Amino acid sequence: MIETKGITFKYDGIYGGKYGGVMALNDVSLRIERGLRYALLGANGAGKTTFLLHLNGILRPLSGKIFYDGVEVTYGRKALYDLRRRVGVVFQDPEVQLFSATVAEDVSFGPMNLGLSHDEVKRRVEDSLKACGIYELKDRAVHFLSHGEKKLAAIAGVIAMEPQVIVLDEPVTGLDHIHREKVIDIFSGLHGKGVTLIMSTHDTDLAYEWADRVIVMNNGGVAGVGTPLEIFSDEKLLRSSAIYKPVVLDIYERLIGRGLLKNKGDIPRVRDDLIRCLEGDTAFSRSTEAANGRQIEFNR
Ligand SMILES: Nc1ncnc2c1ncn2[C@@H]1O[C@H](COP(=O)(O)OP(=O)(O)OP(=O)(O)O)[C@@H](O)[C@H]1O
Ligand SMILES: [Mg+2]
Repeated sequence: MIETKGITFKYDGIYGGKYGGVMALNDVSLRIERGLRYALLGANGAGKTTFLLHLNGILRPLSGKIFYDGVEVTYGRKALYDLRRRVGVVFQDPEVQLFSATVAEDVSFGPMNLGLSHDEVKRRVEDSLKACGIYELKDRAVHFLSHGEKKLAAIAGVIAMEPQVIVLDEPVTGLDHIHREKVIDIFSGLHGKGVTLIMSTHDTDLAYEWADRVIVMNNGGVAGVGTPLEIFSDEKLLRSSAIYKPVVLDIYERLIGRGLLKNKGDIPRVRDDLIRCLEGDTAFSRSTEAANGRQIEFNR
């Protein structure tokens, strides 16, 4: 669906790039397939945000090309408008995203610019505010929201655009566990509707549990791409990219290694399944069964 071919990006430094110019992306070639959930991992400064901002044309590669549905991305006004209708980005910093006076105004801004009817805009705004659990904040001043509330409002704004691809830069950072779960539920709903999701995160437990594919970035390049199990079983990759092993997988592997648990094929991805595993029950919850099914399918 989206393909980047050898993209490179450099931030200008001060004094015309003489000092402090940073090579933030280095020959990044990746394929994003329709309908899948991607988790993008990597240490601070690895290039995640820079990469994500290329996906809807906010940043333009210094060299290399980007293709959307096989068509090369160009940067004219109309082409960018079309691209941004299809690819929505939730920024790492919600302050950058929100600019209207009230939450409802902010969420309605995108749909209104799509030229939709008043009723349709209203429906989308209400639905996305409810989905993000912030309907009661609709008349509040954006400026005075807490950080987590701002993040949720920014997510609602992008959902209301109903794009084909949603790019989320650390969407759960700073959220409490209830809102984190809520946002993950929203993502599941979007995934069910066929929306392609690409999320950067430092939460490897979430990436392991949630993603169909994991992309690891390191020093502006791609260090690895694979299923969660492939990536999180690669000790060398985890070490070199400063990524910690998901807790469920770590405990599972240690129990197997110490002979305290027999490997019966299904590998747990969530806490409850690990407990079932310990109880000798391999009939995991549907989430893990489905996840393991996907793994097998992808490995073929
Ligand atoms: N506006 C900018 N001007 C100059 N350099 C920048 C700018 N934004 C990012 N960089 C540099 O580019 C590199 C990649 O940064 P980027 O923000 O993409 O990393 P990241 O993986 O998103 O990190 P984090 O996990 O901290 O969000 C870093 O070395 C960073 O210092
Ligand atoms: Mg970032």
